[in-house]
Amino acid sequence: MKGMLRKKKIEDFSSDDLLGSKHLKRCLTALDLTLLGIGAVIGAGIFILTGIAAATEAGPAITLSFVISGLACAFSALSYAELASAIGGCGSVYGYAYVGFGEIFAWIIGWDLMLEYAVACGAVAIGWSAYFNKVLTLFKLQIPQQFLTSPLAGGILDLPAFLIMMTVTLLLVLGIKNSARVNATIVGIKLVAIAIFIAVASPYVNFNHWIPFMPFGWNGVMAGAGMVFFAYIGFDAVCTAAEEAINPKRDLPKGIIGSLIICTSIYVLVAGLLTLVVPYSSLNTASPVSDVLIRLGHGLAGSLIAVGALAGLTTVMLVMFYGMSRITYAMARDNLLPKFLTEVHPRYHTPARILLLAGVIIAGVAAILPIKDIAELVNIGTLAAFLMVNSGVIMLRYSQPNMVRPFRTPFGILLPSLGIVFCIYLMISLPWVTWLRFVVWFVSGLIFYGVNFFRRK
Ligand code: ALA
Repeated sequence: MKGMLRKKKIEDFSSDDLLGSKHLKRCLTALDLTLLGIGAVIGAGIFILTGIAAATEAGPAITLSFVISGLACAFSALSYAELASAIGGCGSVYGYAYVGFGEIFAWIIGWDLMLEYAVACGAVAIGWSAYFNKVLTLFKLQIPQQFLTSPLAGGILDLPAFLIMMTVTLLLVLGIKNSARVNATIVGIKLVAIAIFIAVASPYVNFNHWIPFMPFGWNGVMAGAGMVFFAYIGFDAVCTAAEEAINPKRDLPKGIIGSLIICTSIYVLVAGLLTLVVPYSSLNTASPVSDVLIRLGHGLAGSLIAVGALAGLTTVMLVMFYGMSRITYAMARDNLLPKFLTEVHPRYHTPARILLLAGVIIAGVAAILPIKDIAELVNIGTLAAFLMVNSGVIMLRYSQPNMVRPFRTPFGILLPSLGIVFCIYLMISLPWVTWLRFVVWFVSGLIFYGVNFFRRK
């Protein structure tokens, strides 16, 4: 029992030997980290979910839903920044939980994060496939339907989802600096796509579309916030780059907070414009951002946005999968997962075994399962991690008051406490079936831990 509650010391996290910084290459700047954040965050949430949430849940007040969800993330982002700068390590919350609460809590949250990132990747791969098909049709090309559909939905497999996941895997095996370059380029493309939308849509603003502003009342605004929370997921993945950042203590807080501020501003602007240029009730489509421009008579701009969205979804997968591999790496290095996973590629200095193994599994799952049903698992998994981070800040303020904190969340424990309240509120508003699946994953994690615990003795 004592072993299960064993905590790591902060010193462990500043030791190159223990954290393996000798092996992973430090090459990422503050800008790279911010771009990683934007790469992970802007994707299916804004390009697909915003329209659905506006049409079915919040109406024009979807802008307010984005602000509320953004606030919930902002409290947690500050806590992430504090722990990332003080503790670091590529395991992100997994590592912070090891210091604050002990091994078994670290395991639980690490297991939870593996699920969050893997499911997010799989879900986005399937969304990518749908968008890819849309872009192909714009060029009058077509993939046979049975190669776009999972066997459970009457097809053979979702081939583009499989192929994009394998491509992302290979990019990450080749090395993070190369991946960071690819990421920066693609982030550029998706930001240009959003800029095109803003420039082309702005002249069509009509404030009459905002009357009534809250057609579904406050409950609708909150339901919308619960849905678009997905749009913010990913900024936490910046923390997993701690061991590849040149100056993590200074640059991680910049990367986390910077990417969140940029993404929130973009979301509020895009959601506001979408609902100001057409009636909110007409936004319930799979690609609202590009469809709106096509409807306004700007077909070329609409097509460019579809390509930009494709780019956006690609970087989400790139960073999410990157995050998943680093957390798994940290857990294997701590002997909580099989040791053979800790080998890094001799030439590319990347955890190639983890990437290839997990990549094939996620690609296979994305090809044969309709992951839509389990996508809400991503939200509950993320909220559980946020809960742990906010609690960790409060706990460490008392248990380790003298710990060096290069970044300190302001106003004592007020903001992390608000973060906890927001997370619990959003978690309890998720459907029971999501909770059930989450509990199944949680219990299987505990069984795995128990078996492994006695094997290690
Ligand atoms: N935030 C990411 C997206 O919206 C997961 O696709």
